[in-house]
Amino acid sequence: MDFKNLLWSVEDGILLLTINRPDKLNALNGETILEIKAAFEQAKNEQLKGIILTGAGEKAFVAGADIAEFQGLNETQAMALAQRGHDIFFAIEQMPIPVIAVVSGFALGGGCELSMACHLRIATPQTKFGQPEVNLGIIAGYGGTQRLVQYIGKAKALELHLTADMIDAQTALNLGLVNYVEADKNAAIEKAKSIINKIATKGPIAIAKVIECVNAYYKDGVDGFATEVNAFGDIFKSEDVKEGVQAFLEKRKPNFKGV
Ligand code: COA
Repeated sequence: MDFKNLLWSVEDGILLLTINRPDKLNALNGETILEIKAAFEQAKNEQLKGIILTGAGEKAFVAGADIAEFQGLNETQAMALAQRGHDIFFAIEQMPIPVIAVVSGFALGGGCELSMACHLRIATPQTKFGQPEVNLGIIAGYGGTQRLVQYIGKAKALELHLTADMIDAQTALNLGLVNYVEADKNAAIEKAKSIINKIATKGPIAIAKVIECVNAYYKDGVDGFATEVNAFGDIFKSEDVKEGVQAFLEKRKPNFKGV
C-alpha cells in the first residue's frame, strides 16, 4: 500500500502502520486522517492477525489534529471535521482483529484520542498523554471527552481536559489508560507483536465477538448483555466452536479456521 503520510508494512501477518509526518510531530492533517481511514479499510481485506499503530520519529506518537487546519473553520465545517474523525475512530474501535497503539512520545489531543480508539495501548518512558485543546480555546473533537472518561473515570478525565496537563506513562498505567510500559519503542513493538501472536492462537470469530460485545457496553441505546447473548448464539453457528470444544476434550491444541 502506498501512502503519503503513512508507512504500511506487513510481517508475519501483523500490520505495522506508522504515521509518518515526524517534522510536524505526526499531527493529523486531513490528508493523513483520510489515509488512516483507507488503511484500516484495506486492512479488513487482508489476512492479518492484528495491527500495530505507531508514530514515526522519537518525539511523538501524534501531537494532535493539525492546528493549522483549524484556521478559518466555520461552525458547519468544524462539525463536519469532528464527525469525520468520529466515524474513522469508531471504525478503528470496531475492527474485528486486535489493534494496538504503540505510543512513544507525545500523544496529545487527536493523538491521545486516536490511541484511545485502539484496543490496547503500550507506552514508553518518553510518552506524554494529554488533551490540551483548551489551551487553544477549543475542546477535544475526536471522541476524547467520552473515551477518556471510559478509561480513567470522570474525575481524572475532567482534570486532564480542564487543565490541559500532560501525564507520563507511569501515571497513565496507574490510571488504566495504558496496558503496559516498555523500555523503548522497539520493546513496545515487540510486546505488541507478542500480544497479537497470543490472540492469534484463539478462535478469530470469538475474538471479533469479544471486541463487539465490550464496545457494546459503551454504545448509547445498545444493550450490551443482549449483544453478548446474541454473539454467544452466533458463535455456535461456526465450525470453530466445534473444533475448540473437541480439541479440549481430545487434549490437543485447536486448529481454528475462522469459519
Ligand atoms: N498541529 C500542527 N503542527 C504541529 C502540531 C499540531 N498539533 N504539533 C506540533 N506541530 C508542529 C510545530 O508547529 C512544529 O512545526 P514547524 O517546525 O514547522 O514550526 C513542529 O511540529 C515541531 O513542533 P514544536 O512545537 O517545535 O516542538 P516542541 O518540542 O517545541 O513542542 C509540543 C512539542 C507537542 C509541546 C508542541 O508542538 C505542541 O504543543 N503542539 C500542539 C499540541 C496540541 O495542542 N495538540 C492538540 C491539537 S487540537
